[in-house]
Amino acid sequence: MRKFEINTVRKDFPLLERTIYGKRLVYFDNGATAQKPQIVIDRIQQYYSSENANIHRGVHHLSQVGTDLYEEARKTIQSFLNAKHEEEIIMTKGTTDSINLVAFGYSKLLKAGDEVLITEMEHHSNIVPWQMACEYSGATCRYIPLNGKGELDLSNIDELINSKTKILAVTHVSNSLGTINPIEMLIEKAHAVGAKVLIDGAQSLQHFKVDVQQLDADFYVFSGHKLFGPTGTGVLYGKKEALEQLPPYQGGGDMIKEVKMSGTTYNELPHKFEAGTPNIAGGIALKTAIDYFTEFDLSELEAHEKELLEYAETKLKALPGVRIIGTSENKVSVLSFVVEGAHHFDVGTLLDKQGVAVRTGHHCTQPVMDYFGINGTVRASFAFYNTKEEVDIFIGALERALNMLG
Ligand code: ALA
Repeated sequence: MRKFEINTVRKDFPLLERTIYGKRLVYFDNGATAQKPQIVIDRIQQYYSSENANIHRGVHHLSQVGTDLYEEARKTIQSFLNAKHEEEIIMTKGTTDSINLVAFGYSKLLKAGDEVLITEMEHHSNIVPWQMACEYSGATCRYIPLNGKGELDLSNIDELINSKTKILAVTHVSNSLGTINPIEMLIEKAHAVGAKVLIDGAQSLQHFKVDVQQLDADFYVFSGHKLFGPTGTGVLYGKKEALEQLPPYQGGGDMIKEVKMSGTTYNELPHKFEAGTPNIAGGIALKTAIDYFTEFDLSELEAHEKELLEYAETKLKALPGVRIIGTSENKVSVLSFVVEGAHHFDVGTLLDKQGVAVRTGHHCTQPVMDYFGINGTVRASFAFYNTKEEVDIFIGALERALNMLG
């Protein structure tokens, strides 16, 4: 186990050293994508410079080495999530791809009268695929509403989860509010009526430990790039029996057992859902990212991020006209806010000019913005490599921006 020491940790991430417009970069857009440690960057380069070959296909040496490396990555992900079986790990392009895979399958399984339950807090990628599945199947899409703190309003949950519910799709952590949802209780309630549950883990695994067997989720999805790995990588974990129920998503090479002109039989898990040449370098480097991340005691990283969040929240609240959106006591290090009389886009632009990277807008959660009656927020999202000094720079830059706008 590696001791968490912020100054040495920061040196692992080359991009944190750079300047923007001559100012030291303060990168607070980790919710959108995280920076990559040098060993992940090196791993991609090593693959292309000395290991590149297609996998699962060749008898030649490089193809076999590549296949072994890629399958090792699957095993690392299995152990990271504590999945029971290796074949329960499907490699995808990212969270969106993983959700679309499951929702497409459900569009074939659902029928009129069935209900899909999502929440008002979801990222568009956990809304639109389900709306499409309902549109194609005739099922009805319902949602759990929000409350003023940006939490799920569970007052009507026993009516919302009912015998018609076939699948509940809910985010573990809200990308725009930071709220951590009580998914254990929701999973239990859904299972009590025979529904399956998909958890969107895009914003959770980089902040705290997840054990899919303990959670008992049927599907758990995440993106590699938010977990310090490459873009274009992601995972769909599914319980074997839940995955076996789903029809294949895309047809093509590798996902078949036998193709005849009269028809095709499909491959076993996980290959049934992995048509075509995958992102081989990405998958292998995702293993490197997970190996890197799991060297640390996650509770140390969590404590550091909590401290950053509290520090930033206190400083932010002291600024006139600032309103924090997402005030649950149970949240990760995401700080969304609006400023009275200032447009989020202008605030973000003025922060950028001072070297501070934040995300502005609706964060692909328009229903959340509608609920709060706003058209966007400024969102600062922290990773374990961020510091209090960076929060000070951010607050100073924000004060200057507000003075200019005010
Ligand atoms: N889903 C990512 C975010 O919240 C892109 O910024």
